[in-house]
Amino acid sequence: MNLQTSRRGRARFVALAVAVGLFLAGCESDAPQNVLEPAGEAARKADGLWNLTFSIAVAVFVVVQIALLYSVIRYRAKPGREARQFEGNPRLEVILTVIPALILAAIAVPTVGTIFDLATEPDGKGVLQVNVEGRQYWWMYEYPDLDVVTANELHIPVGTPVNVTIEGYDVNHSFWVPRLAGAQDVVPGRVNRLTLEADEPGTYRGQCKEFCGLSHANMALRVIAHEPAAFDDWVAEQQQPSAEPADSLAAEGARLFVNGSGDGQFADGPACASCHAIEGLDGAAGVIGPNLTHLQSRKTFAAGLFKTNEADLKAWLDDPPSRKPGSQMPDVGLTEGEIDSLVAYLETLK
Ligand code: CUA
Repeated sequence: MNLQTSRRGRARFVALAVAVGLFLAGCESDAPQNVLEPAGEAARKADGLWNLTFSIAVAVFVVVQIALLYSVIRYRAKPGREARQFEGNPRLEVILTVIPALILAAIAVPTVGTIFDLATEPDGKGVLQVNVEGRQYWWMYEYPDLDVVTANELHIPVGTPVNVTIEGYDVNHSFWVPRLAGAQDVVPGRVNRLTLEADEPGTYRGQCKEFCGLSHANMALRVIAHEPAAFDDWVAEQQQPSAEPADSLAAEGARLFVNGSGDGQFADGPACASCHAIEGLDGAAGVIGPNLTHLQSRKTFAAGLFKTNEADLKAWLDDPPSRKPGSQMPDVGLTEGEIDSLVAYLETLK
């Protein structure tokens, strides 16, 4: 082996090791998005079906490989040996058709059963209704019975089936929280549904699973499951309107939010309120972007991409499309002073 081939061999080995490492990293057991670690009833049903069909597939694979290896070795070419010559074998063909058909039929029974089971809306008291809308590139959540609207971070109580109604708005997306339920398509003009349920309090990561444009990968979500009492506290907080800003910088921010630098405009685009709603702020009732009434109660913004802190908010307002490719929020040409005031106001939205 010369030097060049040994180098190439080493590079290949490193590439393989990295690929295997990345692959195994996906299996990390406490990964917040591990589909193999169901954390609720709906996800457990899908996982049970997967375990069953995967086991059958492995058994078929093993049997076929053993038969193949046996034939390859037992009937390998030898000098003077000739394969038996014949045409057709009806008995064998029937057997090889009937066995797979029986296996598929056996798999179909639990598969169809689970599909219908998961498609059934939970009923009875204590079911929480949430309407989800997927948009480029964030998630809107509406709790119609609680009069709460929020974005990206979905709060639910543990041990309660959540009936999630899913609607499209612009292009196709897919709502997926792997540890709590299977994925569900988000299609404009169509209403889909799924049931979410979490056993334990915690944060469960989700991700848009349908390519939807430049920031498809930046369309994450989080489901935060609370004990019922803590969930009620969260709801009570969300139902409050925003407080009037106490200091003058924040008050200026609130004015800019609605009016822009004049007549509802900034230098290069409309004021914030033409897209965003804030309960308790007159004139802020836009429905294109996320509702910001309780922005600070969310740990992240822009669909999980940034932390809700002063530095990230300022960087974001300065030029959204450059921070998040394809963002529908335009760079409206804010001055540094306007950004300071707006962020001071956004920080009051607890
Ligand atoms: Cu939304 Cu991908």
